[in-house]
Amino acid sequence: MTESSNIRVMIVDDIVDTRDQIEKLLFFEKDIEVVAKASNGREAVAMAKQHKPDVILMDINMPDMDGIAATEAIMTQDPGIQVIIMSVQGETDYLRRAMLAGAREFLTKPIGADDLYKSIRHVHRLAATRPVTSTATGGSEGSVPSGGGAQGQIVAVFSPKGGVGTSTIAANLAIALRQLTNKKVALVDGNLIFGDLNVILNLVSNKTIVDLANRVDDLDRDLLNDVLTTHNSQVKVLLAPPNPQTGELVTSDQLRTILDLMRQEFDYVVVDTQSSFQDRALAVLDMADRIIALMTLEMPCIKNIKLFLEVAELLEYPREKTMLVLNKADNRMGFSVKDVQSNIQHEVALQIANAPLEITYSINQGVPLVIAKRTHQVSKDIFTLASRLTNVAKAVSSEKPQDEVKRQPEPKAKPQSRGLFGRLTARR
Ligand SMILES: Nc1ncnc2c1ncn2[C@@H]1O[C@H](COP(=O)(O)OP(=O)(O)O)[C@@H](O)[C@H]1O
Ligand SMILES: [Mg+2]
Repeated sequence: MTESSNIRVMIVDDIVDTRDQIEKLLFFEKDIEVVAKASNGREAVAMAKQHKPDVILMDINMPDMDGIAATEAIMTQDPGIQVIIMSVQGETDYLRRAMLAGAREFLTKPIGADDLYKSIRHVHRLAATRPVTSTATGGSEGSVPSGGGAQGQIVAVFSPKGGVGTSTIAANLAIALRQLTNKKVALVDGNLIFGDLNVILNLVSNKTIVDLANRVDDLDRDLLNDVLTTHNSQVKVLLAPPNPQTGELVTSDQLRTILDLMRQEFDYVVVDTQSSFQDRALAVLDMADRIIALMTLEMPCIKNIKLFLEVAELLEYPREKTMLVLNKADNRMGFSVKDVQSNIQHEVALQIANAPLEITYSINQGVPLVIAKRTHQVSKDIFTLASRLTNVAKAVSSEKPQDEVKRQPEPKAKPQSRGLFGRLTARR
């Protein structure tokens, strides 16, 4: 980025009229400045080097070199540049490839002025909050975990009630973390009986957590990498077993061993946690550095969240380990957030907007909303959540010695005490 406080934008499109129209739309925006225009990918790569724009608006279909190849080349050249892909409706496959190439955002043609401004400012803001990364320091595609063996953060997304959005938020959050930090992010389907992440992310693989559990004694980085499935976003996913009877066989001890290795290999391990207090769910909650406790403004859910917070206290989880997040937030539900906060005596840290149609559509398409519609309110809320998690990690690590930060209290339960009751009585 240059010293000028303006957002420096480059427009890339082979149609002159499109380039001119976009330039006109941007003309009156005081904080946005068009610094270059290119008519194909090859020109774009050269001009990006010369003008160093903050944001590039990139068409996909262009002669000579298309927008995807150009994005890839520009990302290698200068990973700090934010590319927004402009496409026509229905180019889902192109969009996925563009995302993989490093594009940060999509706009569908014809492009509305508001969407255009919002997207440019959004990606620019993201770049400002993203830690400086380069292939040498921050890039984390290599096999060695960043931080020289330091442990990553386990983030358990959990709700004591089903249907609240745990799987949806876990999937979107993992992708948002990856996009925001460019670090190594894994997503684990902790619903060993009815896992959904393969459907939500449109992933097909016959390798699942069972393949790790069965060989837990030989578990190492290579075996882990072999079983993980790579999503387009570069998030590595550990899928749930293919059927409930196999899922039953994974024990909580095996789950602990797997998560332990994963936190050595990844910067963030997001776990879609089962809605229960059985051993396997407790193992995840115990190991988590942060628990995103999801709730909605529904009476049964508020009641269960209250019970969960009591259990968390009994299990001696530090209060700040639990981050209470209101999903499907809507002010027409008959309760205000304030009422809820005073009732459960815990702060609601963040709200995620209610968008049943968009979420259902994105789930059915297998393209998470943070990819399909980055500027949607729900996506923004999820990016805010992701950025809180990265900031918290930074703030905490500057205050406390590493060991203390990464290792939240481990379960002190004796191995034979099973279930929540066993755990709590073992503490007395
Ligand atoms: N922010 C949201 N706004 C509206 N609907 C949502 C939102 N998040 C999730 N949903 C919907 O809630 C339902 C349950 O989501 P899911 O992720 O399967 O929840 P869980 O894993 O907690 O059972 C789905 O129909 C999903 O579309
Ligand atoms: Mg679920």
